[in-house]
Amino acid sequence: MWGMIATWRMALEGITKGAELLENGKCAGDAIEEAIKEVEDFPYYKSVGYGGLPNEEMEVELDAAYMDGDTLDVGCVAAIKDFKNPISIARRLSIEKVNSMLVGAGAEKFAHKEGFERKNMLSDRAKIHYENKIKKLKKEDIVPYDGHDTVGMVSLDKNRKMVVGTSTSGLFMKKKGRVGDSPIAGSGFYVDSEIGGVTATGLGEDLMKCCISYEVVRLMGEGFSPQEACDRAVSKFDAKLKSRRNKAGDMSIVAMNNKGEWGVATNIEGFSFAVVTENEPPKVYLTKIINNKCVHEVASKEWLDDYMKTRTMPLERK
Ligand code: GLY
Repeated sequence: MWGMIATWRMALEGITKGAELLENGKCAGDAIEEAIKEVEDFPYYKSVGYGGLPNEEMEVELDAAYMDGDTLDVGCVAAIKDFKNPISIARRLSIEKVNSMLVGAGAEKFAHKEGFERKNMLSDRAKIHYENKIKKLKKEDIVPYDGHDTVGMVSLDKNRKMVVGTSTSGLFMKKKGRVGDSPIAGSGFYVDSEIGGVTATGLGEDLMKCCISYEVVRLMGEGFSPQEACDRAVSKFDAKLKSRRNKAGDMSIVAMNNKGEWGVATNIEGFSFAVVTENEPPKVYLTKIINNKCVHEVASKEWLDDYMKTRTMPLERK
């Protein structure tokens, strides 16, 4: 059995490419890296790679991580600027025994030395989003931060190796140097090939309070199905944050075990995710919360058409 599961509709083309690699016997790491590069390179996704929305100083600072479920090797970059594919740098770092998580200028120095491709990651479209937001903030009393749609993926190959990867530009208008959950093992991602893998998207500050990805892998290791493990972790932490802090940030997680069974849970309406397995062609699902249970429906053609139309429509300066 092989398979991939990933957060958000934006992962569809990536997991389709990853599936071809897995079908042809390539390893879970190659599938994750190629699939996430596909998302990082697509200019219309506002929260990952090129076209990602900038911090409050109009700089695109990117976070990414890669974890190998056989060796438990982890590589991460955080707040890295001006490199085309942060996921590839994270994968390269994962084989280092020390210095495997690098931030800011240190990450950039490493990437340059290793010959990774440089690119100005601030697109014209992202600049317009930034300028529009600045104008809006001057007129309205609103919280500046929004947008936290990390792409996170889990892959399982024919040899039962599992890998997880994440990539994000983090919160729009974040402070320079702010890092979310996506490059933090146990919070934004975790994988153990003897059990399964998990990755999260949502408000990093809250996901990190729960170490949610590790918790879901742990529950799967205790015998819960991926769906039961995801439901348990999200409802437990959503309730805990609400009782201790009166509110819980957005939390969505996707999981796959080493048999290719998958599960998804969220505390928001309208979460989308993409899945492919040996037995199921690449598909996008939408999750609804009905009576406190997460129910997944295949996205309609209308929804999928509308998604791409709204992502790519011309953007005006306000
Ligand atoms: N979940 C991504 C972030 O908060 O940066």
